Amino acid sequence: MKTGFIGLGIMGSRMAANLQKAGIEIIVNNRTRAKASELIANGAVWAETPADVAKQSSVLITMLGDPEIVNTVALGEDGFLKHMNPGSLWVDCSTVDPGFSREMATAAKQYGVRFMDAPVAGTKGPAEKGELVFLVGGAEADLKEVAHLLDAMGKKTLHLGAEAGRGASMKMLINALLAQAMLSFSEILTVGEAMDFEQSKLLDILLNLPVTAPFLSNVRPLLADSANATTNFPLKWMHKDLRLANKTAAELDVNTGSLQKAEELYNKAKEAGFADSDFSSIYWYLRS
Ligand SMILES: NC(=O)c1ccc[n+]([C@@H]2O[C@H](COP(=O)([O-])OP(=O)(O)OC[C@H]3O[C@@H](n4cnc5c(N)ncnc54)[C@H](OP(=O)(O)O)[C@@H]3O)[C@@H](O)[C@H]2O)c1
Repeated sequence: MKTGFIGLGIMGSRMAANLQKAGIEIIVNNRTRAKASELIANGAVWAETPADVAKQSSVLITMLGDPEIVNTVALGEDGFLKHMNPGSLWVDCSTVDPGFSREMATAAKQYGVRFMDAPVAGTKGPAEKGELVFLVGGAEADLKEVAHLLDAMGKKTLHLGAEAGRGASMKMLINALLAQAMLSFSEILTVGEAMDFEQSKLLDILLNLPVTAPFLSNVRPLLADSANATTNFPLKWMHKDLRLANKTAAELDVNTGSLQKAEELYNKAKEAGFADSDFSSIYWYLRS
C-alpha cells in the first residue's frame, strides 16, 4: 500500500516532494494534473480520481484550499472517503475550522476510517525545506503511525489533543494573529507614508522594534515593491482563515470585533483583485 496525497498546490506539491525524497512511495491526485508532472517524473503514481487514490492507500493525506473543497473531494462524486480501505487513516493538513474537522472525523468513522487533523504552520519556504510545524488533533497511536511521514515534511509536531479539531483550533489562533499583525503593520505604514516619511526609512525603523512581529522582516521585499510580489500564501486563503476563525469564535460565544473588521478588509482586498496575490498585498490594497 502506498501513501496517498491529494492537493498539489503551493504547499501540497512541496510536501509531497519531501515524502518522495524520504523514499516514500506516493500515489497522487490533483484537480489540475499538470501540477503533478514533476512528482510523476520522480516516480509518483498518478490516480485519475480521489477515489482511485483511496483504493491504493493505507494513509491518505489531503492539502486542499478550504472546508468546502475538502468536503467535495472527500464526499462528492468520485470522492475518496467511501473508497478508503477499512482501518486506513486520513490525515487532513488543509486549514479548516475545528467544527469541520469534527464533522469529517464523524463521516470517516462511518466508513471505518480513522481521521487526524494536521494543519501546518509555515509557508512556501518551510514547506520546500521540510521545516513545517504540524498541529495535530488525533489519537496518539495514529500519530505514531504517521510520525515518519510528518517528520519527512516538517521539523516539529505538536500534539494538541486526542480529539479531532484540536490541530485546526490552534491553527485558527495562529493565522488570526498573522492576519492582524500584517494588517495593522500595513495600515501604520500607510499612515507613516502620509506623514512624508520615506518607506525605506519607516521599514528600517518599524521592522526593528520589539513591538513588531518578527515575521514582518521576511515580507519586507513584498512591501517595498509590488513587482517583487511572489505568492507564498494566497490572500484568498487568509480571508478564508479569518472567516473560519470568526465562525469558530461565534460558535464559542466569544466576541471578536477586530477580527471581524480584519475579515471585512481582507474580503475587500480579495474583491479588488488581490485574491491570488500574497496576503501581504493587503498593504497594496490599503494604498490603492
Ligand atoms: N501557502 C501557505 O503559506 C500556507 C501555509 C499554511 C497553510 N496553508 C493552507 O494550506 C491549504 C493549501 O494552501 P496552498 O497555499 O497550497 O493553496 P493553493 O496553491 O491554492 O492550492 C489549493 C489546492 O486545492 C485544490 N483545489 C482548489 N479548488 C478546488 C476544487 N474546487 N476542487 C478540487 N480541488 C481544488 C487546488 O487544486 P488546483 O491545483 O487544481 O488549483 C490545490 O491542490 C489551504 O488550506 C491554506 O490555507 C497555506
